[in-house]
Amino acid sequence: MKLKCIYLIFSLMTVWSPGALADQLEGHKHEHNDFRHWEIASRDPDRIFLTFHGDAATRRAVTWRTDTNVKKSFLEVAPALAEPGFDRLANRIPALTEVVDLGAAKGSNQSKVHYHSAIMTGLNPDTLYAYRVGDGDKRWSEWIQFRTAAQKAKPFEFIYFGDAQNDVHSRWSRVIRMAHQTAPQAAFALHAGDLINAANSDTEWAGWFKAGSYLHAQWTGIPVVGNHEYLHGGGARKSQRKMSMLWQPQFTLPVKEGLSEELHETVYTVEYQDVQIIVLNSMKNTLEQTKYMEEQLKKPGFNWRFVTFHYPIYSPRFREKHALPKATREEWRELIAKYKVDCVFQGHDHAYLRGQVPMRSAPNVGGNQLETLYVVSVSGPKQGLPEPLHIEKYKKEGFSAVRVAENTQFFQVIEMNGNEMTYKAYTTAGELYDAAVIKKDFKTGMKTIRQMIPDTKERTFENTLEYSSENLK
Ligand SMILES: [Fe+2]
Repeated sequence: MKLKCIYLIFSLMTVWSPGALADQLEGHKHEHNDFRHWEIASRDPDRIFLTFHGDAATRRAVTWRTDTNVKKSFLEVAPALAEPGFDRLANRIPALTEVVDLGAAKGSNQSKVHYHSAIMTGLNPDTLYAYRVGDGDKRWSEWIQFRTAAQKAKPFEFIYFGDAQNDVHSRWSRVIRMAHQTAPQAAFALHAGDLINAANSDTEWAGWFKAGSYLHAQWTGIPVVGNHEYLHGGGARKSQRKMSMLWQPQFTLPVKEGLSEELHETVYTVEYQDVQIIVLNSMKNTLEQTKYMEEQLKKPGFNWRFVTFHYPIYSPRFREKHALPKATREEWRELIAKYKVDCVFQGHDHAYLRGQVPMRSAPNVGGNQLETLYVVSVSGPKQGLPEPLHIEKYKKEGFSAVRVAENTQFFQVIEMNGNEMTYKAYTTAGELYDAAVIKKDFKTGMKTIRQMIPDTKERTFENTLEYSSENLK
């Protein structure tokens, strides 16, 4: 406060005209409000995000942001016909609007912004739709296209990202864009936690949305919470940490009744054709989620079952304070084994580790029978050092590492095609680094895995360029 007074007195002493004084004060204001234009909400919708919300063949939810001038907002959706007048068949859906007061967490010069959401229902399966969001008058987004799921199994692919977390605007943008170049028809994109670093930083979220731009609106997203979506510091114990105030306003996700409120919109299941994806929250009430996971795994009707959460079961760089509680790890691991979950997609360790557990209920003839594929990956620039001795210890639980990498940003493409799934990990340069094909006998549940690892050197800190940033914590 004292410094501000000195600044003002100095300005008055050195500036004579009222206009020049205003300029000085304006300049002073700019110094402290140096926001990028894309951080600041306007009447035009931004941060448009498409999510699953119930039946993937007939429903989707969309969330977007505007400034508080937009009091009412709408979504319009129509079958994406080839003719430009396709929107004559559009349905208009009024949005729900909520005020978010960013308060101290504000990243822009606005304290309050509006988040709007609308749910599309009654869509036709396996159909291309176009939607737009806006104020119902002149301020509309562009028309954005997406395809609904088919009602039964049909080939599709999806993307899985490990942590984006740091320097997202600058260095994660090329990952998501290369993912789009590699798998443009992806049905959805899974973000396995730590999308940003500081849970309430509106500036960081602005960077995440800018990096993904229209891909966030076009690919249906499956966001998973990580530890960085919870507030750190202040001595708060893990169980007491608060979730990002922007998570629920930004992502319209299914609410699973029966789960405690703090798990709402962080624990849910996506059912996409013959594939079930169970999303868990590794930060809160983890034991409560065991029952939920089992209920989901018992549900019949799926040929493939995946589980995703942030803290890994098999961790390339284990840190006890930043890991699943022991009891939870045991319960989840046992359940994954009991139901022979096909793949587990995780994040957190800022390194790449693909490993597997062989089928335990049958003789592992030829060493290619698979029970579960476990992956930890990273899509952002922050990179940690895997510990081979630690990974080795998991052997007593049947886990063996297949492919490891350091100091590399990845995205994964998973192709589903009948009783075969192909797993591929690409570097952000678009090079295939790791691959495997899993074949499953749907009658017996037995799976075999064929490793398709390209003949390239394991990437390590020694054979790659160093990256350091003061911002990385
Ligand atoms: Fe993390």
